[in-house]
Order: sequence, then structure tokens, then C-alpha cells
Amino acid sequence: MIPSDIKDISLADQGQARIEWAFIEMPVMRILLERFSREKPLKGVRMSGCLHITTETANLARVLTAGGADLVLCASNPLSTQDDVAAALVAHYRIPTFAVKGESTDVYYRHLNAALDHRPQLTMDDGADLISEMHKHRPALVADLLGGTEETTTGVIRLRAMARDGALKVPIIAVNDALTKHLFDNRYGTGQSTLDGLIRATNILLAGKIFTVAGYGWCGRGIALRAKGHGANVIVTEVDPLRALEAMMEGYRVMPLEEAAAISDFIVTVTGDKNVVDQRHFGVMKDGCILANSGHFNVEINIPALEKMATGKKRPRPYVEEYSLPDGRSIRLLAEGRLVNLAAAEGHPSAVMDMSFANQALCAVYLRNQKKKRENRVYPVPKDIDQEIARTKLQAMGVRIDNLTEEQERYLTSWQEGT
Ligand code: ADE
Repeated sequence: MIPSDIKDISLADQGQARIEWAFIEMPVMRILLERFSREKPLKGVRMSGCLHITTETANLARVLTAGGADLVLCASNPLSTQDDVAAALVAHYRIPTFAVKGESTDVYYRHLNAALDHRPQLTMDDGADLISEMHKHRPALVADLLGGTEETTTGVIRLRAMARDGALKVPIIAVNDALTKHLFDNRYGTGQSTLDGLIRATNILLAGKIFTVAGYGWCGRGIALRAKGHGANVIVTEVDPLRALEAMMEGYRVMPLEEAAAISDFIVTVTGDKNVVDQRHFGVMKDGCILANSGHFNVEINIPALEKMATGKKRPRPYVEEYSLPDGRSIRLLAEGRLVNLAAAEGHPSAVMDMSFANQALCAVYLRNQKKKRENRVYPVPKDIDQEIARTKLQAMGVRIDNLTEEQERYLTSWQEGT
């Protein structure tokens, strides 16, 4: 009997079929599956992963367990779990899994603690909840921990804050910061999956609409790019002058959110910060405006303030909450302000998660094999891992590139030659 808390085990066959389907687009992970099966680089290592329970994560779990890891999984967001995948993980891959789509905050933390009961030697986080919970409430578990990895920007920011405060008691590898991760997953993954979530939830045409993206990091860049591709008129809001300039020169309008709110049909937040869309914005928002968030936590839109202002609320479609305001306007909030791409769609496509999760798997092995005790801080992914993943991905795509000649290599390492 595999310990688990999932919605419905009878969904397992459907989940397995979708996991296999996703694997077709994950060639780097397929190579790793073969290598890990042979070499067993994680043999006997207790691992706990707090990740979005999707088809792509299931394929990461297959690679880790093929490598010998003793793995337990829990959800990293109450709304992102794919229940058929959770069922397949338990029934077909025999991996203890604690995740139910729509779970309450209490159940979310119960699941997190079930993953911690495993006494992990390695952790894999997406948002840093596992490490944070362990350090805050179960510090004795730190004794067994070699280190952990972190998947996302928000988690890396939290973990750096922990390290700055002297609170972090293990080394962490910031998978998010690998080039083969954020340049592809954050940009093209968030770009496509966020629009996918918006469209599945609303079925509204984007062409000709005014579409505001709050935050122009890698995720914001991807969303703006894809919204533009749909024919939307894109506005970017920013607090960073360099990013604002970049957005301007990319051809977007840039203005404060209060101005954008008055004219926008859609506003999507990807800032990583709280109350970015606040009461003053609701006060001026265009009637019918659609609000969504693709940042990690559901704090970017001040939902309690919206609830307070509203005179009524209805649910015209799944994942859409329509709030009525006293002056007759309405505001539509998608997916309760949680990650719209994972709640209303299926998260990033497999082809980008292929590289993100190859980083995860290789960094787990790297942490396992470290010889000397590292300082308790946040480390980058080793450059050779990043390069190896890029090379393998290109190979799998059948793309060849040029090599430097000896003369060119010499030129790049010399300073004598000039004009
Ligand atoms: N984060 C964003 N998209 C994801 C996916 N498809 N699987 C796991 N984590 C994700």
C-alpha cells in the first residue's frame, strides 16, 4: 500500500497516458531516464518534492526514482494538481503522493508535512514552502538534509532572504537561475501557458483588446510577447526603470497601473510582489475587466479588498468569479488569483519543462555527490550542467551549430590584436 492522499485512484490510467504523451516532448529527460536507470546516481537517497503535480513533474519523478531515489511528492499549490497524474503516480509509478486539486490551506500544509515525515536528505521546492516549513516548524529534520533545489523566482527570493537573515541551515541550488531554465520556462512557458489559461477560462478573443502585463521580468516578457502575437494592444507596467525602457523599445506602451487599469480589458500580474492590483485600481477599473495572476503566490491581486468593495459575486464559468461593484461596474477574477496557467490550463508545455527538470535531476545528483560541506546559502546551477542541457536539447531537436576555429579561440583569449 503506497501512502497517499489523492482525489480518485480510478483516474490513474488516464493520468499515465497523459504522462507518456508529455514525455514525447521531453527528450533530455528521456536520455536522463536511461542514464539514471543504468547508473543509479541517487540510490537510497530520501527525497521530498513539493512541486506542481503535473504530467511533467511525473516524468521528473520517473527519472529520480529510476536513479534510485526514495521519493515522496506533495503539491506546491492548492489549485495546480492534476488529479489523474496524482493517481497515476501512486497506482502506476508507486510514488507516495499527497495532492488534491482544490485542497484547503489546512490540507495543503498537512500534505507538506506528510512529505516532511519522509525525513528527506534532499528537497525539491517550487516556491520554498517545504524548506520554509521545515525551518520554521520542524527544525530537527534539518540534521538529515544535504541540501535542496528551488524551481522558481519567488522561491529563490525567499531563500536568499532566509540566507541573509542567517536562518537558512542548508545549501540550496537556484535551479530557476540556470539559463536553460528561466530563458525558456519563465519566458516561453509562462507566455504560452498563461494565455492558454486565460483563453480556456474565458473563451474571449484577445485580438484588439487592451492587455496589461504587470511586471516585465522573464515571465512578463513572455506573456507580453504572446499577447501581442494574438493581436492584443499590450501595456506593460513596471517599477524598474531599465525593464520599463526595455518594454518601451520592444514596442509596448508603458504607464502606471492606475492609468492602465482604467482602459484595460485584461490585467495579468507577474511581479512576485503583493497587492500590485489594489483598491485604488479596482476603483478606476474598466467595466468587465478580467484579472488574472501568473505569479507564484495569490497575493498579487488584493482579493480581500475586492471582496470588501463588492456588493455581489457570481460564477458565470469555472475559474471565473464576477464581482459587482456599487457603481454598477463588474470585475472578473480568474482562478481565485492563483496561478492561472496551472489552475485553468496545464502549466508550461513539456518541451520547456524538459530543460527545467533536467536541471532539477542533475542538481540533485550534484548535491548528493558534493564532497565537502558547503555554506548554507543559495548557489547557482553549475555552468557545465546548464551547457550540457542546452547541448543535449539542441541535439534532440536535430540542430547543429558551429565551433570556434583554433585561431578564433586564440583571438578571444588574447589582448594584443586591436585596430
Ligand atoms: N510550473 C509551470 N508549469 C509547470 C508544469 N507543467 N509542471 C510543473 N511545474 C510547472
